[in-house]
Amino acid sequence: MKWWKEAIVYQVYPRSFKDSNGDGIGDLQGIISKFDYLQSLGIDVVWINPVYTSPNDDNGYDISDYCDIMKEFGTMKDFDELLDGLHKRKIRLVMDLVVNHTSDEHEWFKQSRNSRKNPYRNYYHWRHSEKGEPPFRPSFFDEKGSAWKYDSKTRSYYLHIFSVKQPDLNWENRQLRKEIYEMMKFWFDKGVDGFRMDAITFIAKDENFPAFTEDEIQKQYGEWSGYYASHPCLHEYLHEMYTEVLSKYDVMTVAEGPGISPEEAHKIVDPARKELNMLYHFEGMGIGYVPGEFKRVDPNGYDLVKFKEVYTKWNDVFARKGWGTIYLGNHDQPRMVSRWGNDSAEFKVPSAKMLITFLFTMHATPFFYNGDEIGKKGDVKRFLENQKESARDNSRTPFQWDNSSHAGFTTGAPWLKVNHNYTECNVEIQDKDPDSILNYFRKMIKIRKANPVLLYGHYHLLDKAHKQVYAYTRTLEDEKFLIILNFSKESLDYRIPGSFRHDEEILINNYKTCEQHKDKVHLQPYQAIVMKTKSAD
Ligand code: NOJ
Repeated sequence: MKWWKEAIVYQVYPRSFKDSNGDGIGDLQGIISKFDYLQSLGIDVVWINPVYTSPNDDNGYDISDYCDIMKEFGTMKDFDELLDGLHKRKIRLVMDLVVNHTSDEHEWFKQSRNSRKNPYRNYYHWRHSEKGEPPFRPSFFDEKGSAWKYDSKTRSYYLHIFSVKQPDLNWENRQLRKEIYEMMKFWFDKGVDGFRMDAITFIAKDENFPAFTEDEIQKQYGEWSGYYASHPCLHEYLHEMYTEVLSKYDVMTVAEGPGISPEEAHKIVDPARKELNMLYHFEGMGIGYVPGEFKRVDPNGYDLVKFKEVYTKWNDVFARKGWGTIYLGNHDQPRMVSRWGNDSAEFKVPSAKMLITFLFTMHATPFFYNGDEIGKKGDVKRFLENQKESARDNSRTPFQWDNSSHAGFTTGAPWLKVNHNYTECNVEIQDKDPDSILNYFRKMIKIRKANPVLLYGHYHLLDKAHKQVYAYTRTLEDEKFLIILNFSKESLDYRIPGSFRHDEEILINNYKTCEQHKDKVHLQPYQAIVMKTKSAD
């Protein structure tokens, strides 16, 4: 059995986790100083966002040297210490692989932009200006929205799907691919346990850059993203990467897969095709916007029926082939409890615990973003009103360790202001409180690990039209679990479905009580219950 199927992944955002030297920026020694904490959680894998040398146009996702560490974060010696220390604690380390683009300050690009004849010219996508501006391609981070940037030195345009400082690499170039594979081996040979592959579905482009029709350009994010960058060659490249690199190591690979169809997802994760292990879809993240308006959240909240439909759909996709992942937030998204739960003083604790229960009881490898385990909240309203890049800072505020100044994150001035609620929401307080979100998170991990049915059991959705309750079973051989999650702030009576009786063993409950009458359970706001039965269906 593959270890990454049973793993619990914890994402550390290095810039905001822990600063060791008082410059206000989190660093590798900071993470090292929190080894005991990481171990105390019970997680198996730490995924760190990019720590490579970078001018930080996009917080490290613009890499200028793939084989060195960003000065603010420390040195290669610190990195080796981090890797070694985690391994000693039986925690694996997964890094970001950012190979759709580099920084414009990467040596390859500096060479490439020098002359039309430079040997590195073909490492990127250039189009001579004599032919006019190339057919429109949209850019995520460009103010004008165009992914072509004119460069006067060689009177040419280069492609950048992200910011102008993130030129796209040309994967058609075999020499470039070889260099990437060598770089991957460099990290694997050090002992790194895998890669989360940034924007990987965008690496293959149609080199003819055909013009889009107006209609195609109008298509929503998610649909056109696949169209303009996911050329079928993607699978050739991933298979080649597997053959030349991945097959030689026992590692975990997970693709960032925005806007990808189930069919495409299967192609990437089907073990028989030998590409990658897992993928994370974005369909869940797209729920709750005003229909047709990607940038505006629906003031009426999100629709739980839709939420269930999406997570069930993707469960079924990976039940057929491959293996799934599940997450409710990360460094690009609003805080989980603010977006999907309820971060008011009254409901934050039960709703954060309820979401934790959801992630740990689904049939997929769960990814948690640092801070979710203490119910860190963000300013979701601001985030959703403004989906521009800056809004992502809402989920990137420094980690909250204790109630000393700047939440114990730094002794200096933090690069981003600490959330003002740190005096009541921090690790130190929650560590001591047996009923805290943090201790619930730890308990839930123990339950997941002790019960293979939560890892491998078949998932079956119940009551799909219920507007407040998300209920499902997980079944493995003669064991069956029932998970009941009240996603609403109302108390309600819920009829226990199927073969379950009211006196089944309760494995976990985010409230002290669970009132049951005959075949009904009285659910309190955001109550989460996991029941276990031995009875056959
Ligand atoms: C996805 C990353 O998660 C995001 O933070 C980054 O800005 C883009 N890819 C570009 O690398």
